[in-house]
Amino acid sequence: MPSITVDCCTFALFGALGDLALRKLYPALYQLDRAGLLNSDTQILALARDAGEPQHYLGLISDALRQYVPANEHDDAVMARFEARLRYLRMDFLVEDDYRAFADATRDARQVIAYFATPAAVYGGICANLARLGLADITRVVLEKPIGHDLQSSRAVNEAVAQYFAETQVYRIDHYLGKETVQNLIALRFANSLFETQWNQNHISHVEITVAEKVGIEGRWGYFDKAGQLRDMIQNHLLQLLCLIAMDPPSDLSADSIRDEKVKVLKALESISPEQLSQRVVRGQYIGGTLGNKTVPGYLEEDNANAHSNTETFVALRADIRNWRWSGVPFYLRTGKRMQEKLSQIVIHFKEPPHYIFAPEQRALISNRLIIRLQPDEGISLQVMTKDQGLDKGMQLRSGPLQLSFSDTYPSARIPDAYERLLLEVMRGNQNLFVRKDEIEHAWQWCDQLVAGWNKLGDTPKPYAAGTWGPMASINLIARDGRSWYGDL
Ligand code: BG6
Repeated sequence: MPSITVDCCTFALFGALGDLALRKLYPALYQLDRAGLLNSDTQILALARDAGEPQHYLGLISDALRQYVPANEHDDAVMARFEARLRYLRMDFLVEDDYRAFADATRDARQVIAYFATPAAVYGGICANLARLGLADITRVVLEKPIGHDLQSSRAVNEAVAQYFAETQVYRIDHYLGKETVQNLIALRFANSLFETQWNQNHISHVEITVAEKVGIEGRWGYFDKAGQLRDMIQNHLLQLLCLIAMDPPSDLSADSIRDEKVKVLKALESISPEQLSQRVVRGQYIGGTLGNKTVPGYLEEDNANAHSNTETFVALRADIRNWRWSGVPFYLRTGKRMQEKLSQIVIHFKEPPHYIFAPEQRALISNRLIIRLQPDEGISLQVMTKDQGLDKGMQLRSGPLQLSFSDTYPSARIPDAYERLLLEVMRGNQNLFVRKDEIEHAWQWCDQLVAGWNKLGDTPKPYAAGTWGPMASINLIARDGRSWYGDL
């Protein structure tokens, strides 16, 4: 039996037939049910605009569940219990009259969770309708990204929601915060004094954050082309990772203590002027190439592509944090589509010892690194220097890992999907894995200056072949500082 109890709620899923709902949200809710973490009275309202027989749409949801939940985690009894919680309601989210059935369905609710898996443009309209039905006091609203495409538009969305809901009722999703390994960053940093005492510019030379994906933009071209990799990944996921690595220790684990510290980091990010852009930021766009044994098309050759698009599918940049702890320690961020591997990892590079006593030719070897592997093969490895074994080796040095692989160390533990964790925390009313309004806004502000610089310079992305680690310029970006990306083949 689970050791936590979760209150009953009416889970209202706006955008119930979209890709996110089908691929991620129902499977996550099912997994919570399977783990005994959905209250037995919890109901799920699947809300979408599609007219027709509700049974047909419920069938689609059941099909998606069977497709996206791994076969060894299917449990017929749980499936049946889960399907019995579901009800499909057709409605146009902006039409007041369409909320009648919804009003009936929520009449006796004590807690409503309104999950907006819809374009942000309708968030305000849904909120107005929820408030009109008298649900404002008992509702938590969950906002999916993207929340706007720049500071101004994100403010407009947040303000529209804030007319009806207090910040304590708003849960902004960044699904990276729900990943087990990302939460582990907090444990690693603040439960191990070994690391925390070294976590500053006296001991760390630089930090790398890589989030590489093998997938391209298949089927999402329309959305992605308006966003690009900076808005789609850096503004949220990579800056959140940077914050978790760079923030000062919070005074406790409460949502606001953590978020206050993250905001301080975002505020301390040094701006990058248009004149510095070419040295500090690289944009790329993939062209056709080979991934595994497969030939894949370039970004401009994908279905529905505009062959003249200048949208970036790759960004590498050097971020500097202007504060006492991180002065002089660059954070190199890199993320792209159609890269050689799917890999999210953070590498903390420690400085050399202050006085060097070994053979001069081995000096380049000397460096401790902490490698935090977020996905796949989740784990942590600390590269340490040891002596090579053998009588003939003298004091020859070798770098080797102290390794913690989560799957080897906890073989029976299932790593939950990020959405399972996030949905559970919304139901428990715990906001610390969600992004506060000021965090989003500071992140936008920093990204907006990069976009403004690109626009001013008429910058165009540099091509890179699919299946590689990005444009040559991204290697030069870090090489200019006498460094290289860790582990690139
Ligand atoms: C999403 C982006 O937020 O994150 C996608 O919109 C990206 O473009 C995805 O593919 C990556 O998530 P994950 O969990 O697969 O690393």
